[in-house]
Amino acid sequence: MNTNKIKHIGVFTSGGDSPGMNSALYAIAKTAEATGIKVSGFRKGYEGLIDGDLVQFKSHELQKLTQKGGTILKTARSKRFLELEGRKKALQTLNANKIDALIAIGGDGTFKGLLAFSEICDIPFVGIPGTIDNDISGTDYTLGFDSAVNTAIENIDKIRDTAESHNRVFIVEVMGRDSGYIGIHSGLMVGADAILIPESDTDFINLLDKVKNYDSEDAFLVVVSEGDEIGAELVSSKIKEVNPNVDLRITKLGHVQRGGNPSALDRMLGIRLGVEAVKSLLQSKKNVMVGILNNQLHLTPFNEVVKQHQVNKELHELLELFGT
Ligand code: F6P
Repeated sequence: MNTNKIKHIGVFTSGGDSPGMNSALYAIAKTAEATGIKVSGFRKGYEGLIDGDLVQFKSHELQKLTQKGGTILKTARSKRFLELEGRKKALQTLNANKIDALIAIGGDGTFKGLLAFSEICDIPFVGIPGTIDNDISGTDYTLGFDSAVNTAIENIDKIRDTAESHNRVFIVEVMGRDSGYIGIHSGLMVGADAILIPESDTDFINLLDKVKNYDSEDAFLVVVSEGDEIGAELVSSKIKEVNPNVDLRITKLGHVQRGGNPSALDRMLGIRLGVEAVKSLLQSKKNVMVGILNNQLHLTPFNEVVKQHQVNKELHELLELFGT
């Protein structure tokens, strides 16, 4: 029985989709139903909030969709919400539909949007970190990161087969925007000869040192994060400068890393964060993100969330030891 003043929660997914978002939606619906709260989903992120594009859903409709990647609510990167005018329209939508609280699932752009929205809107917001990039403070893992890394390693393993057959140098670019998390994790797990991430200043020099002596008797695998300051093309031409005989190819894994069924870890993370998001609202929390730190649920205020999640000392040491 819900004695709380919250009777109707709105939820949306925003920014780049990530595997596990559907699990979180399911968990939100299930928890809300158990406490007698109505849930409405806004379609296409902030766009749906502005346009009043909402659907009602029940947990049983989502139960079997937790295994699906993407987001059943669809998503968008809304330019209109960046403008005050767009945010005012979104506020009208919330009032017109008597929404008492809002849950947003997305990345740092989504949280920046919520911060700006909180200046004109009083209803409580709770955020769930959903992005493959793992670039958000206040959580060890974001929803979708684990699945993206699994997809990356599955594909890089395949690239290794052909690289070894031809004794080629392969530069594989992985996603992550400004963050090297996918790069360092996938690079370590495929046994890359070099890993280049934006957070390291020495990785490129080390790579050149190593590839200078490469004798084309095996594969040489370089994993480079898309946000790395050098970039795949420049890495390729520099490698050819120091070792002109190499046979080299570049593969950009791209959006394949965003799709596919969520891993077990992401499905579970979606469930835990979704349940906690509703519970937090019922405990009168507002403008916080629900995350997992040291395997414990943790709430972080939005203004701290937008700082980038740092690659820690241990990961830097692993990079030094294995990735160069
Ligand atoms: O933030 C998730 C992400 O997949 C990044 O890794 C990537 O840089 C970006 O989104 C791609 O964005 P879009 O799908 O808009 O091309």
